[in-house]
Amino acid sequence: MAAVDASGSNGKGQGVETSVTYYRLEEVAKRNSSKEIWLVIHGRVYDVTRFLNEHPGGEEVLLEQAGADASESFEDVGHSSDAREMLKQYYIGDVHPNDLKPEGGGKDPSKNNTCKREYWSGFLNSHPTLDDV
Ligand code: HEM
Repeated sequence: MAAVDASGSNGKGQGVETSVTYYRLEEVAKRNSSKEIWLVIHGRVYDVTRFLNEHPGGEEVLLEQAGADASESFEDVGHSSDAREMLKQYYIGDVHPNDLKPEGGGKDPSKNNTCKREYWSGFLNSHPTLDDV
């Protein structure tokens, strides 16, 4: 009667992160030939060596970014959610915390105040309400 529905856990232990391998950027930078290609996308390191020939966008673009941070070019293309899903297959670890740089094209997230009340109050006060229509 009062049984707890445990159907959500299938016992496969998915989502359990054991340990993360961290790579320094200088190490990633060495993997920049067609023999071995690593890329950084959003602070994660991907070994795309075996993906070179399969990439629908061609190997050239991957070679251009080899050993470097490809986050911006990856986003510029507007990759599909399928493409984002594929990333998982090539994930090998994270960028070492000491090498992480703030994301967002150099924008400092702390300077973004769009979630603050002051930012919106002017807009909210001047915006017509249904009463005004
Ligand atoms: C492991 C990383 C990557 C994966 C898994 C990936 C996957 C894909 C996939 C599945 C497509 C087909 C279109 C789509 O589904 O969005 C695609 C297209 C493309 N990708 Fe990537 N991609 C990766 C990295 C990159 C990078 C770093 C660049 C740019 C430097 C790039 C440039 C392109 C271009 C130019 C296309 C063709 C777009 C078009 O013809 O409309 N990709 N990629």
